[in-house]
Amino acid sequence: MNTMRLGAQGPGNYVLDSDFLLNMEQAQFDVILCLSVTKWFHLNWGDSGIKRVFMRMYAQLREGGVLILEPQGFQSYKKKRKLTDTIWRNFQAIEFFPHHFTEYLLSEVGFTKCETLGSPLHPSKGFQRPIKMFTKGSKRDSRSGKEINPSGEWT
Ligand SMILES: C[S@@+](CC[C@H](N)C(=O)[O-])C[C@H]1O[C@@H](n2cnc3c(N)ncnc32)[C@H](O)[C@@H]1O
Repeated sequence: MNTMRLGAQGPGNYVLDSDFLLNMEQAQFDVILCLSVTKWFHLNWGDSGIKRVFMRMYAQLREGGVLILEPQGFQSYKKKRKLTDTIWRNFQAIEFFPHHFTEYLLSEVGFTKCETLGSPLHPSKGFQRPIKMFTKGSKRDSRSGKEINPSGEWT
C-alpha cells in the first residue's frame, strides 16, 4: 500500500502552479493523509489553490484509494489572516469556504463516497476536528453507477 502524508515527510509545495499541470499526474497512492493542512493551502493560494490541491489528490489516487481529510474550520483562518499581505488578500477573497469542501469533492472532483471517521480525543479543543474519508470509486461507481465506455461516453 502506497501512502502519502502531507506536511509530514512532505513533497515540498504541494500546490501546483497551474491547472494544466494536473494532466501530468499519475495515479500512484492508495491513501493520502491531509491532516490540518488545508488552511495553509487555502490562505497562501486562495480558492483556486485549494481546489487545485483537491484535484491533484484525486488524480494521484488509484481507483479504490482514499483521501483522509481533516480540514480546519474557517474560524481558525481568522487568527492567521494578517500573517502576510498575500494571506490577507486571499483571506478577503474567499468564497469557497471549508463547509463547501465535501460537496465540491463529491460533485466536482469526482470522489464517490464520504464517510466521517470521528473526531480525535485531543487535549486541545482546536484539534478535535472531524476526520473524513473520501473514496475514489471505480469509473463504474461514479456518475450514478454508470460506466464510461472507451469512446468516453456515459452508458
Ligand atoms: C499543522 S501541520 C500538520 C501536520 C501534518 N499534517 C502531520 O500529519 O503531521 C501543517 C503542515 O502543513 C504543511 N504545509 C503547509 N503548506 C504546505 C504546502 N504548500 N505544501 C505542502 N505542505 C504544506 C507544513 O509543512 C506543516 O507541516
